[in-house]
Order: sequence, then C-alpha cells, then structure tokens
Amino acid sequence: MHPREAERAQRERMAVFYERARSPVMQDIERRVCGCDYGASSWTTRAEADALSELLGLKPGDHLLDVGAGSGWPGLYMASQRGCDVTLVDLPLAGLRIASRRSLLECNGGRCLVTVADAAQLPFGLATFDALSHSDLLCCLRDKQAALASCRQVLRVSGRMALTVISLASGLTALQKARAIEAGPLFVEAPTAYPELLRETGWRVIEVQDLSAESIALCGQFIASDNERREELIGLLGQSDFDDRQSLWHARLSGLREGLLRRQLFVATPVG
Ligand SMILES: C[S@@+](CC[C@H](N)C(=O)[O-])C[C@H]1O[C@@H](n2cnc3c(N)ncnc32)[C@H](O)[C@@H]1O
Repeated sequence: MHPREAERAQRERMAVFYERARSPVMQDIERRVCGCDYGASSWTTRAEADALSELLGLKPGDHLLDVGAGSGWPGLYMASQRGCDVTLVDLPLAGLRIASRRSLLECNGGRCLVTVADAAQLPFGLATFDALSHSDLLCCLRDKQAALASCRQVLRVSGRMALTVISLASGLTALQKARAIEAGPLFVEAPTAYPELLRETGWRVIEVQDLSAESIALCGQFIASDNERREELIGLLGQSDFDDRQSLWHARLSGLREGLLRRQLFVATPVG
C-alpha cells in the first residue's frame, strides 16, 4: 500500500477506534489494564501519565500541548490533575470531539482547546506552550523529523517535551528487522535512532527510560482481558476485527519479548 494511502487508512481506523472505545466493554478493559477510560490507544497507563506530569513539572497556569491526543488521553487527564490549560491536536475529528465534550466536566480551572492539525505542521506561534507531550505518536507517522522540528518551534526554550515511542531495537539482522517492522506500529521504522533524531531537530535529551518490560506486561493483560470479555467484544467489533486485535497484541508481545521492539520514554528540552 502507498504510504499516503496507509496514512489515510490509519486515520479512518483511529476514528472508528475512538467511537468504539466509548462502549462499556472497551471502557472496562481499558480501566482494568491502563487505569483510565479516555479511549487510550497508546500504551500510556495512568501511572505513566502521572509520571509524565511530574517529569514535565506541570502546574496551574501552564499551557500543555498534547500532540496525537486521540480522545484526550493523556493530555486532558494530565491538565485536569494539575489544573493547567491544554491544547489537544490530532487528525481524526472523532476523538477530539469526544475529548472536547469530556473537557466540559473535567477542566479543573484550566482551558481545553482542540485542533485538527498535522504534527508536522503545528498551526501555533513560536514558543506558545510551556510543556509538550506525545504518547506513541512518532511510530504512527512518517515524517518524524518534521514533527519533532514543529514541536520544537511551538515550545518555549525553558519548556520540556516528554514522549513515548515504540521503535526497532538496535543491532538487528535484516531478517529480524523485517520481523520487527511487521510486528510494530505502521511507521515504527525511524531514519536514525531517537537520541540522534532529537539532537538533529534541536532537542537536548535530559532523560531516557526503557519501558519495554511494562509494555510486555500490558500486552499480556490486554490479551487476557480481551479473552475474558471475548463474546461481548465480538458482539461489538465483529469476529474479524476481534481476531485482528488479538493478532496485533500477540505480534507486539512477541516483538517485545524477543527484543526486536522496544518502548522508550524521552524527556527533552529545546536547545536555546
Ligand atoms: C498511538 S495513538 C495515541 C493516541 C492518544 N494520545 C493515546 O495516548 O491514546 C497516536 C495518535 O496520533 C495520531 N496521529 C497520527 N499521525 C498524526 C499526525 N501526522 N498528526 C497528528 N496526529 C497524528 C493518531 O490519529 C492517533 O490518535
């Protein structure tokens, strides 16, 4: 499939996902595995979202930008916990609509704005935001350099960006690399390792954490929870989408367990 066609198909899949994620069975599974019910499509758990808020030092009066924010996870949650403003950006409108409605109940003193925009061309002025986050966004888009450069432009020099990303492990053989690409998210392959990519796009990395072990546990919990609610999920998704969802968990789990894929957290600050 042509990359542009693959991107379009991914946008449509995500829009369907955010609608389905509002069903009671999907919310139960998400609460049990991730500790939230926002329609999370990344692997960010509630504990991880709390850690991100801490790493970003969010406080009332700050303005957080969450790029690839889906239906509000984790940006809306982080802002409501910390009493700050948040802008949520994504491409499918479906998720942002859900987030916008939820923000009316949750804003906790801050403002919530939603914008349909491409991460590679963020429509905000220079140095607009105090903090920036994205959860497993870069492995879902092609032009990672452009997205990181665009994020750099809109963050204040004193601000911080926290991001999680699924990537290929280093030192893979050609065969292992092909298997890792097959098992990972749509655009898991990056042109260079993330520390280098961040440096090239004007960032100084201040912290790196490997979250692969947590992700292995999370995939296992999704597989088990989906199987417990199998009949209800098949009723919601249909047999074919249920099977695809299970295959995806199993592929990601094998990729992580075999050390072909990894998930990392980076905290970075703009180079002045
Ligand atoms: C793994 S999901 C994470 C969603 C949400 N933040 C969460 O944690 O559940 C990645 C999100 O990035 C969005 N996305 C993909 N490419 C994008 C782009 N070029 N610009 C903005 N958002 C994009 C997808 O629509 C999707 O909602």
